[in-house]
Amino acid sequence: MEKSPFIGFGEPHYHFEVCASTNAIAMDLAKQGALEGTLVTADFQTQGRGRLGRRWMAAKGENLLFSVVLRPVLPPEKWGLLTLVAAIAVAESVEYQLAERYQGQNASFLTQIKWSNDVLLNRKKICGMLLESSMGQDPVVILGIGINVNQTLFDDELARKATSIALITEKEWPIAPFLVHILSTFQRYYIALQKGMEQGIFKAYLSYLVGLNESIHLHQFNTNTMIEGIIRGIEPTGALVLELPDGTQKSFHSGEVSLSHWYS
Ligand code: BTN
Repeated sequence: MEKSPFIGFGEPHYHFEVCASTNAIAMDLAKQGALEGTLVTADFQTQGRGRLGRRWMAAKGENLLFSVVLRPVLPPEKWGLLTLVAAIAVAESVEYQLAERYQGQNASFLTQIKWSNDVLLNRKKICGMLLESSMGQDPVVILGIGINVNQTLFDDELARKATSIALITEKEWPIAPFLVHILSTFQRYYIALQKGMEQGIFKAYLSYLVGLNESIHLHQFNTNTMIEGIIRGIEPTGALVLELPDGTQKSFHSGEVSLSHWYS
């Protein structure tokens, strides 16, 4: 496959006040030949897509909703690492923006990643990602990211697990700087990944991983079972390595990690 000429992430940029889903639009554009780095943003999505067929709900104009077209030159078994790289980029960017605004002040926030790609602030989810791919002659991956920036109202069920940057910091935030920083950070890690510099990526990822060496529950949706185990790390493919109660280690490619405090 001939790789498209690469301009940089964020060019060209299509913005919609309202659209069904930025992922859906980015996929359509990609199928029409859009270059790697093409960006789609929206103030509001009427059919925002979440993982596992769920909906992604985000109040109008209060959040960051975007999708980027990727044409990775990577063997398919490494595509799972894209999600790790994107999660690191968001975690680093959120940390950076907060540190910059609170410079010299005594404020501390905890930014973490819940496997595989939820970003948490003070142990609640502020960001979700959905990677959708289309294989074939010209494989493409759409990386869709939703970050709760200024939304302060969540329904009761969601509020147990989700929050926003504004709710945690009690401040309103300009949204664009998050996008700019995430795109440039992601681009740096994405290039490193394609150059085979995975060790640095794993190190960065594990430094953010919530529950490392702690007991967690993994919900396996295909079998509807809950597996208990201690997170021992990740595999080179990005799979989660759990130590099971019988002492053996097993890797999981899918599932949702639950943290014990969410049960309390
Ligand atoms: C999740 O379930 O955690 C993933 C949510 C991903 C939501 C983002 S918002 C921008 C992009 N467009 C979509 O339709 N979904 C993703």
